Amino acid sequence: MNYSKCKIITKDGSSTFRIDRLKESYHSIHGAVTESNFIYVNEGFNFWNLQNPNKTCRILELGYGTGLMTYLTLLEASKKRKKVVFTSLEAFPLTNVEIKLLGYNDLFQDSNTTIDFNTFSKLSWDKLVLPTNFFKLTKKQIRFEDFNPQTSFDLIYYDAFGAHAQPELWNSECMKKCFDLLSNKGVWVSYCAKGSVRRGLNEAGFSTQRLPGPPGKREMLRAIKS
Ligand SMILES: C[S@@+](CC[C@H](N)C(=O)[O-])C[C@H]1O[C@@H](n2cnc3c(N)ncnc32)[C@H](O)[C@@H]1O
Repeated sequence: MNYSKCKIITKDGSSTFRIDRLKESYHSIHGAVTESNFIYVNEGFNFWNLQNPNKTCRILELGYGTGLMTYLTLLEASKKRKKVVFTSLEAFPLTNVEIKLLGYNDLFQDSNTTIDFNTFSKLSWDKLVLPTNFFKLTKKQIRFEDFNPQTSFDLIYYDAFGAHAQPELWNSECMKKCFDLLSNKGVWVSYCAKGSVRRGLNEAGFSTQRLPGPPGKREMLRAIKS
């Protein structure tokens, strides 16, 4: 996936990359930070935390990309003093130079955390690292299709590029794989609200919910392993 990318400024002022060849961007053009917080941190992480106040949350992200969603989850974990073990998969890592271009370090300068975004984004791949007392991270350079872990997860952030660009990541086999990767009552969240994806999730055994989406997006999906 060695397509050329250009930096764009989204509507909330935060930047992201756009890949014209795929007609895709790494985050919503209506707000990269807004979308990531709305869908993944609030409807995913905070939703799971409400049901499991005293448990460590084991999160799997499909698509580390810029690291923005991972870092926003780290900030929320620090704020809530909630322990997180985070695994993020990325088949085509961006370079540190590309990530730096997005200027996220300046965006989070006032965040009350022990690690700034630039230091965070240079953490090693394929190794367990502990950027804060609350956050254990493994970034894995691997395709989701090839990932076969021994452990299970409580929450999946499913953030592949759209189905028109990567149909192979939205089929019912992938939804079944997510189901198998999750613990009982585990939660799957995504920006995607496509009927075919929802049907794949239901077929896999999930209970699904269509929720109001972030700015610029009518709906999003959340699925629960029940
Ligand atoms: C929408 S972007 C993810 C954005 C990311 N969550 C962030 O906060 O920047 C989708 C990501 O999935 C990655 N990807 C594409 N195919 C993949 C695959 N088969 N397995 C794992 N990652 C993949 C892409 O390289 C890209 O970084």
